[in-house]
Amino acid sequence: MPKPFLATDLEVLTVTPTSAVVSWITRRIRRGRLVPEPFPTDARVWLGTASRHLRLVHEDARPTAFHQVTITGLEPGREYHFRAISGDQQPTPGMAITNRRQSPERTHRFITLTPPPGRYLETIALANDSHLGEKRQGIVLGPLPTSVKPGPGQKDYAQVMFTAMLDELGSRRGHPFLVLGGDVTSKGTAEQVACARALLDGYGTRHESWLAVRGNHDRPLRDGTDPFAESFTEYQTLCTSRTASGLRVIGLDTTRGAGGGWILPAQMSDFRALLAEDHDWPTIVTAHHPATNDAAMTYPSGPQFMLRLRDRIELQHAERKARGLFLHHAGHTHRMRRDRADVQGASAEYLEVAACSSYPAGYALLHLYEGGYLVNFWRIGGDDAAAWQMRSRWQSMGLGPLFTVGSTNDRNHVVLKDLSDLRPSGTPVPPELQV
Ligand SMILES: [Fe+2]
Ligand SMILES: [Fe+2]
Repeated sequence: MPKPFLATDLEVLTVTPTSAVVSWITRRIRRGRLVPEPFPTDARVWLGTASRHLRLVHEDARPTAFHQVTITGLEPGREYHFRAISGDQQPTPGMAITNRRQSPERTHRFITLTPPPGRYLETIALANDSHLGEKRQGIVLGPLPTSVKPGPGQKDYAQVMFTAMLDELGSRRGHPFLVLGGDVTSKGTAEQVACARALLDGYGTRHESWLAVRGNHDRPLRDGTDPFAESFTEYQTLCTSRTASGLRVIGLDTTRGAGGGWILPAQMSDFRALLAEDHDWPTIVTAHHPATNDAAMTYPSGPQFMLRLRDRIELQHAERKARGLFLHHAGHTHRMRRDRADVQGASAEYLEVAACSSYPAGYALLHLYEGGYLVNFWRIGGDDAAAWQMRSRWQSMGLGPLFTVGSTNDRNHVVLKDLSDLRPSGTPVPPELQV
């Protein structure tokens, strides 16, 4: 008897000090269909600190096709074993990155993170590629058919995901300062930019609650107008803000045209001058195009779609001088990835964050402590978001997520760094960090 459905795409998506999110999908066999049909069914998860002593920690008889289970009440720095089941099937890892020999999806083991030492200071949200106004979703992968058509009722998926993210950050994540790394809109039209600005104004005051930079999708229009400049920042101009803990956030405009990027000399020298005001002050940078050769050489569309080589290197040299600059956030590639720096002695982390608008569809939280920081990627929750995640899984003929999901370590990690110049912002410690 052929199986009526397939349980696949197992992911240990988020691992915090006290919780973990395990997700998978159940779908019909494809049988030549580009977008396979969801197969709603039940979900159960068992967990334990030894593989032979697992106990049932989650049971949901409500039939769904996109299963996302948050396991709470865990201890930091501890190994856990888990087993997930839908019907009579254990979901398998469906992508090369989750099917590596040591991946938690294959070993069915994960280790919770240990928070950095010192007092908790503040949380920053890192997000990008909301593509507001977009009609079909997909990243450019050369000659491959890249986009996936929204299903019935999903026409405004980009806005649905962005709005759901803002709601979630505001209501469940303690309203962190939001850093938006470009491709805020799909085409940079006056209407799309106004929509983005109105939604962000609903989240809070610009540069008090959020900061946004331009992506290639937000570039000036062919008719010479530049709606993005009117609501956000002028072309090739940096912006900066201080958050409640005193963290310095710098946004760079790396856009050039349709795809690739550059930083014109005037902006580069403004950037150097701003860093030189205090090279040691804890600082993060957001810029749409990733800044490393590692990113450029591993992106399927190739280096011409990235920041031009000399700016990558110049940027890294400028950032190396600023010893307080500890994280450089990029979007554009729609993937979770920790990049290797090129310049010798670089100390900043170069982090690409996956898109808000498409699979895995979420945002990263950067939790700051006096002794370092902790990064977690979270998928946007809710039924509408889950339905879109299920569908956008099939972008680029189903290949897109193979490049965008990243490894558990890309999405969840701790870095030790002296951030004691910052002060506690007074916001409550997020529940997942209460150990
Ligand atoms: Fe994008
Ligand atoms: Fe982009």
